Amino acid sequence: MDLTIIVPTYNEGPNVVELLRRIGAVLDGRDFEVLFVDDSTDDTPAIVRAAAAASPFPVRLLHRDRPVNGLGGAVLEGFRMARAPWCLVMDGDLQHPPEAIPSLLERADAGDVDIVVASRYAAGGTSTGLADATRTTVSLASTLLTKSMFPRKLAGCSDPMTGFFLVDRGALDLDALHPRGFKILLEILARRQLRIGEVPFSFAQRHAGASKASFRQGLRFLTQLTALRFGRMSAFALVGGFGAVVNLAIMWGLMRLGVEYVVAAVIASEVTIIGNFLLLEYLVFADMRAESGLMRHRFAKSFLFNNAEAMIRIPVLWLLVEATHISAVLAAALTLIAAFIVRFVFHALVVYAPRRSTRAAAAAAARRRVRLGAER
Ligand code: GDD
Ligand code: MN
Repeated sequence: MDLTIIVPTYNEGPNVVELLRRIGAVLDGRDFEVLFVDDSTDDTPAIVRAAAAASPFPVRLLHRDRPVNGLGGAVLEGFRMARAPWCLVMDGDLQHPPEAIPSLLERADAGDVDIVVASRYAAGGTSTGLADATRTTVSLASTLLTKSMFPRKLAGCSDPMTGFFLVDRGALDLDALHPRGFKILLEILARRQLRIGEVPFSFAQRHAGASKASFRQGLRFLTQLTALRFGRMSAFALVGGFGAVVNLAIMWGLMRLGVEYVVAAVIASEVTIIGNFLLLEYLVFADMRAESGLMRHRFAKSFLFNNAEAMIRIPVLWLLVEATHISAVLAAALTLIAAFIVRFVFHALVVYAPRRSTRAAAAAAARRRVRLGAER
């Protein structure tokens, strides 16, 4: 058997038959199985059993009476039970079109990757099936934030939040995975540096039934992110906090020397921006310096960004206070938090972005190592 298709399901009864029909049509002639890992509270298991009995290819069902760890836990269970070395994970509601499966298999056949991600955000992919503008925005923003927390491990992946991917089970350390909630792919990619391939796909509308995504899932996702990677971001926050204190100290000192307060504020800010940059270079992003080009280019980007940020934040603060009548201090806190996140994303993804040439060189080196049978 060369492929196990793992489908996590939670009350997806009306989608089962159509899903199997379309999978069967695309994979005709291949040796594969479909494994439903089901946590449903309705008649989905009975529907799967009936469909399995009538199916020309093997269909298995694992129904969990006491589900643990939701969608991610279900997928992990699927990896453990799979009969084939390569596992394809897809949703049961046909938002992941089975017609895209051959392109994933083909990409894996090239032999230079451990995982192939079906991406909504790669050139040629679309995410129009996302329910509304809010979900689209949330999805894009959380993708950016996630990528900035794992700038290296996710460098080759434009859509770490997708639930549609093909993975070599042998490349995973199943015992090291701690799936919390919806984002199992993120868990996989964040744990270990895998060689990632991507193919674009168009995220479709749900075939039948309702989405199980919820605000609670969103919160769980944030917990997952924090648990996976608090390191870099907290170091970044520490540097920022230290910078703020130094900024005020310099301003106070200059004013005592008789410097006018606006001038003092400007000098203090510029000194802090430069000091913070050095701390980022040698503390927070030290491991990424070698691959991200020239220090003076990084400095220019960081310096311009911080000055632009200061110039934008003040009018935004004013607008916020005038328009919503919340207290000025609360508004300032909100703009500072927003600025902090944007600044972090900008530094992780732009200032310290690996240069294309070094990234290609690293990928080539990884391929050579694998061919020589070293490092796995
Ligand atoms: N076994 C099991 N247990 N399956 C579940 C559970 C659970 O607790 N919760 C959801 N599922 C199944 C659903 O039945 C469906 O097959 C799949 O997981 C995705 O759930 P949806 O309710 O369709 O969520 P979605 O469309 O919002 O999320 C999808 O899109 C995201 C990208 O925006 C999923 O593919 C996510 O993995 C993906 O990140
Ligand atoms: Mn869905």
